[in-house]
Amino acid sequence: MEHHSNIVPWQILCEQTGAILRVIPIDDTGEIILEEYKKLLNERTKIVSIVHVSNTLGTINPVKKITEMAHEVGAVVMIDGAQAIQHFAVDVQEIGCDFYAFSGHKLYAPTGIGVLYGKRKLLEAMKPYQGGGDMILSVSFEKTTYNELPHKFEAGTPNISGAIGLGIAINYIHTLGLEQIAIYEDELLKYTTTILSEIQQLKIIGTSKQKSSVVSFVIDGIHPHDIGTMLDRDGIAVRAGHHCTQPLMKRFGIPATTRASISFYNTSAEIDALAVGLKKIIRMFE
Ligand SMILES: Cc1ncc(COP(=O)(O)O)c(C=O)c1O
Repeated sequence: MEHHSNIVPWQILCEQTGAILRVIPIDDTGEIILEEYKKLLNERTKIVSIVHVSNTLGTINPVKKITEMAHEVGAVVMIDGAQAIQHFAVDVQEIGCDFYAFSGHKLYAPTGIGVLYGKRKLLEAMKPYQGGGDMILSVSFEKTTYNELPHKFEAGTPNISGAIGLGIAINYIHTLGLEQIAIYEDELLKYTTTILSEIQQLKIIGTSKQKSSVVSFVIDGIHPHDIGTMLDRDGIAVRAGHHCTQPLMKRFGIPATTRASISFYNTSAEIDALAVGLKKIIRMFE
């Protein structure tokens, strides 16, 4: 269920190191099959990298359990939190993961900046991945020594304006309160699921028990791009396509979905408008 950004870097790493990429299967509801995951784990497993919340299905993965299981075989765990941090409170120490990453623009900050959390011991053991100004303590032609964390990994002039924007976005989210955001969005997600399930021709893709803030769906005989374009004319913004999760589309045997993404600024009246818009489109295609 991974976004391409949690597939392609590992494929590059596999090419460089000869490592093998193995994929945890999911069931028809869009949940990780934990027994299959267990079978994939052994002492040769180096890294487990998994999405916290699927951007296409909305599945919330049991990341704490997944981390514990990985640690039992000595693997390091990396979690892609791009779709989690804006929807509910995340505690990396409680999860126990070794790395946790998210993009700023998913929590209303500017693009081009994000956060990588890592356990100090691991980050200290890692070599810099980029060289440049500020990531050094001293440089000579004979030998360069590297700066302390986090500077070791922040070569060159940083994205200063991005960092200021990200800080303000995080403060904004905290002013609203992640607990309140989660409660409100959960209600709206339930409401959306109920309303859309009443449309006979519509099938929701991603029906896991633990779910957050997106409803992906397909409608028989109507391409998601047509649905997206027509809803747009009614002033309704949805996303249509493979959502950068092509292997997931293959898993479900579909080319694309239409996805309604729910945030704290949405209302149940907007969901009603979405349902009206969809019914209109279905009638047009009949
Ligand atoms: C789950 C998930 N992971 C990763 C990304 C990639 O984020 P970025 O485009 O900032 O690299 C996205 C967003 O597109 C996402 O939804």
